Amino acid sequence: MTKLALIVAMDEARGIGKNNDLMWNLPNDMKFFKEKTYGQIVIMGRKNYDSIPERFRPLPNRENCVITRNTSMEAPGCKVFHDLHECINSYKNDERTLFIIGGGDIYRQALQTLTLDELYITEIDHTFDADTFLFHFDEADWRKTIIQTQIPDDLHDYGFTIYKYSK
Ligand SMILES: NC(=O)c1ccc[n+]([C@@H]2O[C@H](COP(=O)([O-])OP(=O)(O)OC[C@H]3O[C@@H](n4cnc5c(N)ncnc54)[C@H](OP(=O)(O)O)[C@@H]3O)[C@@H](O)[C@H]2O)c1
Repeated sequence: MTKLALIVAMDEARGIGKNNDLMWNLPNDMKFFKEKTYGQIVIMGRKNYDSIPERFRPLPNRENCVITRNTSMEAPGCKVFHDLHECINSYKNDERTLFIIGGGDIYRQALQTLTLDELYITEIDHTFDADTFLFHFDEADWRKTIIQTQIPDDLHDYGFTIYKYSK
């Protein structure tokens, strides 16, 4: 079975974005995202796709899938799907891990309707003025372990902790 994972960074109020953009620049969290998803399949909502500057998409060295209801949408270098479950099912026997990479709408549907194997959640030690939030899921279903911590430094205005949730 293909492994299904979700990866997200959120603030102390579960904020994940504002005005269709991220609210922080945390290079070591970005590095973790890049290393974790390298060579794998990433699945994103159309708004998340739009938020990635054109020169950075598709995200290199991984298969990019975009979910939209717009049947005429084209996303160069990406696979376009019109249903989240159709996308997941099309990779049924793939050896790579499928990573749900947001945004808020896609995370919510994934947490509510998919059987996820792993979650990678970065908790940032700050509260921003977000307009998009991570859906509140039941943590009791998961075992939570710390995999990386970062204190504020020259490159990081905020500290953070990366947690892995597994079953
Ligand atoms: N902090 C993080 O880790 C992180 C990660 C990623 C994104 N973000 C942030 O999240 C925000 C964007 O999130 P969002 O909730 O606004 O949008 P989103 O989840 O990125 O995209 C929503 C869009 O996806 C499509 N869609 C959703 N469900 C669908 C379904 N079941 N079938 C077909 N298409 C479907 C629709 O596209 P159409 O309208 O084209 O039909 C919908 O408008 C931004 O601020 C971004 O920076 C944060």
